[in-house]
Amino acid sequence: MEPNESTCRICGGRVREFFDFGRQPLSDYFPSEEELDNEFFFRLAVGMCATCTMVQLLEEVPRDRMFRYDYPYHSSGSERMREHFAATARRLIDTELTGQDPFCVEIGSNDGVTLRTVRDAGVRHLGVEPSGGVADVSRAEGIQVRTAFFEESTAREIVEEHGCANVIYAANTVCHIPYLDSVFRGVDALLAPDGVFVFEDPYLGDIVEKNTFDQIYDEHFYLFTARSVSLTAQRFGFELVDVERLPVHGGEVRYTIARAGRRQPSPRVGELIAQESRRGLADLTTLEKFGAQVGRVCWDLVARLRELRDLGFYVVGYGATAKSATVLNYAGIGPDLLPCVYDTTPAKIGRRLPGSHIPIRSAEEFRAPYPDYALLFAWNHLDEVQEREAEFTKQGGRWILYVPEFRIS
Ligand code: SAM
Ligand code: TMP
Ligand code: ZN
Repeated sequence: MEPNESTCRICGGRVREFFDFGRQPLSDYFPSEEELDNEFFFRLAVGMCATCTMVQLLEEVPRDRMFRYDYPYHSSGSERMREHFAATARRLIDTELTGQDPFCVEIGSNDGVTLRTVRDAGVRHLGVEPSGGVADVSRAEGIQVRTAFFEESTAREIVEEHGCANVIYAANTVCHIPYLDSVFRGVDALLAPDGVFVFEDPYLGDIVEKNTFDQIYDEHFYLFTARSVSLTAQRFGFELVDVERLPVHGGEVRYTIARAGRRQPSPRVGELIAQESRRGLADLTTLEKFGAQVGRVCWDLVARLRELRDLGFYVVGYGATAKSATVLNYAGIGPDLLPCVYDTTPAKIGRRLPGSHIPIRSAEEFRAPYPDYALLFAWNHLDEVQEREAEFTKQGGRWILYVPEFRIS
């Protein structure tokens, strides 16, 4: 095996690298002052399997390093995402959880942002969430949750205790799980004969089209397409029966999977796979071109930040996102170019961004006094952040975006 190759986690085929982001830290570990010398690093490189087309990382970070008691990401931190998940839950309740005493399992239920609505509807539910802190937050709200990683053994325990699930749902979690073989065997054990496994994750088609390269980080082990998900489902006796494009997080797809032959697939599935072929999403050359664009955008960002600093402008970051780790560590941007970043998450405030060690301050302090420019790492929450910080632009401040390329808005 060459250093720029690995073995596909889905089919055992050859994964060929198309971009290397170099040495990167855990994206969701925000070190305190005392922890700065003990950070964990790995090589963040991404490739595509020549056999099943699944895009995946070449190196895997051990799951217990990423999903710990103090995992800092709280899904309920965004109002728009709260609305998105409430609407998702209501739709599942109205369409799939309609029989006698239905049961809904969520993989990666985090702080209960989706199951809250399921609980309110009086529907039997269980979250499976390995990060103890967020699991405790949802438990305190009366949501049923098991602190565990979802895999085959967990699924077998659940079916033993609670019976089959009519819906197994996951958002921004299935792409985090390298051991999808075990997940699918678990779904096979737990799902009712006519049940559905529904999951939504960042879509490779949007990542390439909008150059949202910072969606690539330790936790996002897979970048899915309808084609790669469909082939994976088939390997485990399932079928991709519906796809829906979603506007959240810069563009996602919601995949609906059923046991093979149990449901009539929607024409949308074939249409999206055909569109992916036309766009060359399964061709290594398309992905290599995307990689070259990533390099250009990052070097341009560094040059523009230097220019603004040398002109005497005060530029800060906004949103201590996991995504920011990729761009900052790849481009080598540190506190000399970006002295601090503002965020609303209590667990992040007072700590440092991983790798770059840029200090994180409370969003309350953003206004004291306003900077000249703010580089928006939470670009997926642009509307919500702009609304919250309307006074910043009223007072002459400007937002900087770096995807698809550098832009002062
Ligand atoms: N579903 C929420 C959302 O979309 O906002 C949370 C997404 S968060 C990025 C990923 C979540 O998946 C974390 O809470 C993490 O602890 C959880 N997770 C990671 N591996 C898991 C596994 N094998 N089984 C269940 N949850 C897992
Ligand atoms: P995400 O892009 O992974 O969802 O993370 C968003 C981060 O941005 C999270 O740390 C919370 C933060 N944030 C703010 O600081 N202000 C806001 O208005 C919003 C919506 C998020
Ligand atoms: Zn493969």
